[in-house]
Amino acid sequence: MTAIEKRGIVVLISGTGSNFSAILRRSQAPDSQFFISAVLSNRADAKGLDVARAAGIPFEICPHQNYPSRAAFDQQMQRLIDAYQPYLVVLAGFMRILSDGFVRHYRGRLLNIHPALLPKFKGLNTHQRALEAGESEHGASVHFVSEDLDSGTVIAQSRVAIVADDDAERLAKRVLQQEHRLYPAVIQWFCQGRLALRGEQIYFDDRPLTQAYQLEGEISHE
Ligand code: GRF
Repeated sequence: MTAIEKRGIVVLISGTGSNFSAILRRSQAPDSQFFISAVLSNRADAKGLDVARAAGIPFEICPHQNYPSRAAFDQQMQRLIDAYQPYLVVLAGFMRILSDGFVRHYRGRLLNIHPALLPKFKGLNTHQRALEAGESEHGASVHFVSEDLDSGTVIAQSRVAIVADDDAERLAKRVLQQEHRLYPAVIQWFCQGRLALRGEQIYFDDRPLTQAYQLEGEISHE
């Protein structure tokens, strides 16, 4: 059997890092097409850094408040990331808006996960807003990052049903479980060379993706 040539990815976090942990677990499976070259955090107290430490993954802390401007912070982030020459850069609960120059530098190889069914509910407090809007479904989206916040082309989504008496916390928990399935799957596809962004068009297995891929398996109205 020929060994899989694994691609290195860099993961950016700001907090708990549960998505990072899910990605790390996937990277450790025998058929994984990727490994985590490094984790970068803008916060020294991000819990995800403990996971990186325990797993022996290189990590860097880049406190945004130490930089005079967003551009200066982003330039430093870019330097740190590029030192690892990653095939893919992954935002996983990274809570800083990135400047246009940064986004352009990684165009087509910068992914984000957003806890809503984009284009619905960009920005923050997505779970509460989905409940208040009376939605019957909610979920998570993985998208290529573009200059506008949460507006890049969506690659794939995973849906959950909103049930009677749901609250934002319960809903967030169920969506997060979906994030942990969805993000590793998309990263694996990207690192297998199955996904590409040309212009605004996503190609999946060399065919134009006309709508976001829907991960099967979890939607149920109890
Ligand atoms: C996730 O819901 C992610 O989609 C959002 O922030 C949360 C981060 O969770 N942007 P974690 O740090 O991966 O646990």
